Amino acid sequence: MKLFAGTPGWTTSADVIIIGSGVAGLTTALNARASKLSVLLVTKAKIDAGSTKWAQGGIAAALGPGDTPEQHKSDTLIAGAGLCDLDAVNVLVTEGPEAVRKLIAHGAVFDKAESGEIALTREGGHHRNRILHAGGDATGAEVSRALLAAVQNDPGIEVIEHALVIDALTAVDGSVCGVTLHVIGEGSRDGVGRALARAVVIATGGLGQVYSQTTNPPVSTGDGVALALRAGADVADVEFIQFHPTVLWSDTARGGQQPLISEAVRGEGAILLNHKGEKFMQGKHPQADLAPRDIVAKEIFTQMRESNLGHVWLDATAIADFSERFPTIYASCLAHGIDPQKQLIPVSPASHYASGGVLVDLNGQSSVAGLYVCGESACTGAHGANRLASNSLLEGLVFGARIAEHIATHLAPQKEPARDPSEPTLLLDPAIRIPLQLAMSEGAGVMRSEKSLQTTLQTLTQLGTHASHTPDVAAWEASNLFFLAQAIVQSALERKETRGSHWRSDFPALSEDWQLRIIQKLNRDGSWNTRTEAVAP
Ligand code: SIN
Repeated sequence: MKLFAGTPGWTTSADVIIIGSGVAGLTTALNARASKLSVLLVTKAKIDAGSTKWAQGGIAAALGPGDTPEQHKSDTLIAGAGLCDLDAVNVLVTEGPEAVRKLIAHGAVFDKAESGEIALTREGGHHRNRILHAGGDATGAEVSRALLAAVQNDPGIEVIEHALVIDALTAVDGSVCGVTLHVIGEGSRDGVGRALARAVVIATGGLGQVYSQTTNPPVSTGDGVALALRAGADVADVEFIQFHPTVLWSDTARGGQQPLISEAVRGEGAILLNHKGEKFMQGKHPQADLAPRDIVAKEIFTQMRESNLGHVWLDATAIADFSERFPTIYASCLAHGIDPQKQLIPVSPASHYASGGVLVDLNGQSSVAGLYVCGESACTGAHGANRLASNSLLEGLVFGARIAEHIATHLAPQKEPARDPSEPTLLLDPAIRIPLQLAMSEGAGVMRSEKSLQTTLQTLTQLGTHASHTPDVAAWEASNLFFLAQAIVQSALERKETRGSHWRSDFPALSEDWQLRIIQKLNRDGSWNTRTEAVAP
């Protein structure tokens, strides 16, 4: 299965193509250059437009006095609710501190305490202060700045901006040997072309735009995961969509990207209140307001249903230096007429992070030879059923380095793409995007049931009949969202239990029978295969 697109009119090549310019893509690129590989970095908008720069809270790493990778591992496993891959978590927490030190060596500057040491804060699910942050609540922007400066200084990395990668190119032996892409550029690289490489790395970040309200920017349409699906790769754990408990609620918000109110605000002492002014997280979990975020999101959702209001409140008035510690959030609140130093902040959950994605091994290899996946697009198993706060930037740093190392030491020869004129194609009308997002939020959002998911699936089936004959970015994005929505709903229907960020009102308890990973594969004709694999508890 491929997206309907024009015939490529130009060709370029490099040793490695990296799709995406967030922390995962940039880290992979820099590490590939350390092995002297030529790199083509392709990014859909401007190079700094992805999710990384929006990350507020920070990077979790066991760097503080008394902290250890073992304790970080324990918190990660608890958040992951029994479905983490132990080897992936071990890699994450043990290689994490060194990966952060390397980032600092690349020039990233983190906030310091009065002692001069790096200041560490706490977020939901962590039993220790282990979150590094920069510019108060602008950690992603600083990480992005430092990595981008290094990438832009390296003549061995060619960057193509405003380029949507469409599909994988496959050699006769079935391995991926490049991609087709559409460049909204000027000159010879305009329109659809092909880029050939000895390895392709997907690092396209999240798929939050599958939902109508999300913390993700408009570019987060999961293009890389959808490409991997069409290339025949396995995806796993896609039902585990994490809803961030606190985005800034506004009665005029109509959907799209919502301003995040970092968990670090609660880490610094803010408290959630219901419409009666009660501290409703007290007694619900030993960590109360700092419980893992699935637990907090569910409680907020329950409170909202009980009160019939679209939000609960966050009381941050006790944080004396709010405007200095959280300048981005302070500005967002002020723009909405709220002074968080004096007033309560209305907050509600929104889709935030895909804990699953393209199933990969510890070197980021997917089930299709030549295709690697890094960061939020991947399912390493490190997040299980619910990612621990601030483990995502860390995952990009750690696994980006591993992928580059693996590519460099297992470099395949460049292969010729095979032609297959009989390959079925699909292209959907961009007008399906909004009804798809609304259907997903309504039926496959924070809380799901057999009934709501079946209704959503019916809507998707109907939307899938709205073909388009005009290949353009809007149609390719809408088609990608369609494949991803199908995968999420199918997996959510399959998992008949409540675990981590998958909440089924008709199966409200965790079940030992579902100590399983659900793996899906898209067939050439658009049908799906689903299988399960046991996960060691
Ligand atoms: C936050 O700052 O609350 C988000 C951090 C994360 O998603 O890891």
